[in-house]
Amino acid sequence: MMIMIKHLLCLSDWTGEEILETLSMAEKLKYENKNGIRHNHLLKGKTLGLIFSKASTRTRVSFEVGMYQLGGYSLFLSANDIQLGRGETVADTAKTLSRYIDGIMIRTYKQSDVETLAQFGTVPVINGLTDSYHPCQILADLQTVKEKKGKLRGLKMAYLGDGNNVANSLLIGCAKVGMHISVATPEGYACDPVAVKKAQEAAEESGARVVVTTDPFEAAKDADVVYTDTWFSMGVEKEKEKRMPIFMPYQVNDEIFSKASADALFMHCLPAYRGFEVTESIIDGSHSVVFDQAENRLHAQKAVLVKLMG
Ligand code: CP
Ligand code: NVA
Repeated sequence: MMIMIKHLLCLSDWTGEEILETLSMAEKLKYENKNGIRHNHLLKGKTLGLIFSKASTRTRVSFEVGMYQLGGYSLFLSANDIQLGRGETVADTAKTLSRYIDGIMIRTYKQSDVETLAQFGTVPVINGLTDSYHPCQILADLQTVKEKKGKLRGLKMAYLGDGNNVANSLLIGCAKVGMHISVATPEGYACDPVAVKKAQEAAEESGARVVVTTDPFEAAKDADVVYTDTWFSMGVEKEKEKRMPIFMPYQVNDEIFSKASADALFMHCLPAYRGFEVTESIIDGSHSVVFDQAENRLHAQKAVLVKLMG
């Protein structure tokens, strides 16, 4: 009998219900963690490999600490130090690692590499960020909105800036759980049309509205959450000079934030670059929840690990 392995490659693979169940689990694990209730039996004896081809602070630390708190063990595998970096195929890496470990988290460039890993491996694969998607981030973000606002359905998320991995996943994640989302990007820097289509399909089911525009004020208007991310993602740093003037009108500053609802949250996946995609007054101001988001990476990912490897 063929056993279907559940992965987290893109949020479009999960139903809205699965996402909401994971958020409830994350909430429970957070409560236990804060109240000294140990849950280190949940992944006792399990091992997670963490492959990184790009830098990371939050993803690396939250997965390592998360596995420890669940009673498991994690292995940091820099892509430069394993044979993958010298040309061993992703498929052979997947088959080999599957003989030793119980799950793989990977942060890399191509989404297709994450899919190949899942195709040829025999253990769950978690996408820890590719050029296309960042699903773990968005689970933590939805957990944060739910905590702060008490609900998700019917709220309006506005994303301003680069139509990157975070924006693509945010579109899909919001649409799946019934949150309206408006994304404003400069011309030429829109979200991946595949992601937009996936979000529109999810929105049809959930009743969410998906709007893509080039007008940052239209997106920010009456928003419950204003979200941005760096204009210079890993891999496109050399475009900094070219991108700066194009993205400046999308900076989240006092003027644009004042168009959102009076109790709007400011969100950012971090790392942030003050003075570029967001001003200091906003990210360090009273509406900002960026470090709650960062903390929730731990709790949301632990819920994912339990779901996939438990
Ligand atoms: N937000 C996020 O994924 O952060 P890191 O790059 O530090 O992992
Ligand atoms: N869009 C950013 C996210 C970093 C967590 C990047 O890909 O670099």
